[in-house]
Amino acid sequence: MSDPFARIAPYYDAIMSHVDYERWVSKTGFLADLLPDGFLHIDIACGTGVLVEKLRQSGWRSVGADLSFAMVRQGRRNAPGFPGVAADMRALPFHNAAGLVTCLFDSLNFLTEEAGLEQGLREMAGALAPGGILYGDVITERMVLTHFAGKRWTEQNGRFSTTWESDYSKSAHLAETRVTVNRGPVNYIHERIFPLATVQSAMERAGLTVLGFCDAATWKKPSKRSIRVDFVAAQSPSAKLVRDFETVRKKIQAWQRR
Ligand SMILES: C[S@@+](CC[C@H](N)C(=O)[O-])C[C@H]1O[C@@H](n2cnc3c(N)ncnc32)[C@H](O)[C@@H]1O
Repeated sequence: MSDPFARIAPYYDAIMSHVDYERWVSKTGFLADLLPDGFLHIDIACGTGVLVEKLRQSGWRSVGADLSFAMVRQGRRNAPGFPGVAADMRALPFHNAAGLVTCLFDSLNFLTEEAGLEQGLREMAGALAPGGILYGDVITERMVLTHFAGKRWTEQNGRFSTTWESDYSKSAHLAETRVTVNRGPVNYIHERIFPLATVQSAMERAGLTVLGFCDAATWKKPSKRSIRVDFVAAQSPSAKLVRDFETVRKKIQAWQRR
C-alpha cells in the first residue's frame, strides 16, 4: 500500500504550523477528568506525534501509532524519545491497555471503506481497558464542499511551497486531495465522508457505547453547518461515567464559548 505521507512527512509540521493543536490538548484534558489517575493514552494516527509530545510534556503517559513509518520516523527526529510505532489502526498492537484512545484531525476519514471503518473502531475498542474512552473526530461533507472541493491553492511555508488541489465525488463521498511540495511529485490523499449515522452504527457494531457526537467548535449537537464533528465513545462504561460525561460536555461547551 502506498503511503501518501512518505514524501510529505519532513514538511508536515511546517505545513500544519497554523493548526491549533492546543484545542485537542484542552479537550483531552477535560475528558481525562473522567478517568482514574495514571491511565495510558494512545493517539491513533498520531502523525509526527505533535499531540503525544504536548501531552507527554504535561506529564501524561502517552504513546502514538501511525500507518506511515515516515511520519513516525519524523516524530522521532523531532523528539528523540517519541514513543510512536508504525501500525495500521485496523490491526493495532494494543489490547485492553488504554484509559484514553484518541484519533484526531480527521484520521478516521482516511478509512475509505465501511468495513475498514468498523475494523478500525473495533481495534480502538480493543485497545481500551474497560471503562476507557475513545475521543476522535471526522470532517463533514460541508467541510469538503466549503473548503476543498474544486479548489487549487499554493501556500508559502517558509523555505518551501505547497500546492493543494482537491476534488470531491458526491456520489462516492470521496475526497481526493493532491499535495505537491515545491515542484516535486504529486501525493494523493483520499478521505471518505461517512454520514454520522454510519459512524455511529460502526461504533456500536465495534462494541463501543457512544457517549456523544458534538460540533467540534461548540460541543453542541452537530448541525448542517458543522464542518468537523467530535465523538466520544466508551468501552463498557459505568452509569457514573455516562452521567459524568454530561458534566464534562457542559464544561467543554463553556470552554468553547470563552
Ligand atoms: C491528517 S493526518 C493527522 C495526523 C495527526 N493526528 C495530527 O494531528 O497531526 C492523518 C494521519 O492518519 C494516518 N493514517 C491514515 N490511515 C491510517 C491507518 N489505516 N492506520 C493508522 N494511521 C493512519 C496517516 O498516516 C496520517 O499520519
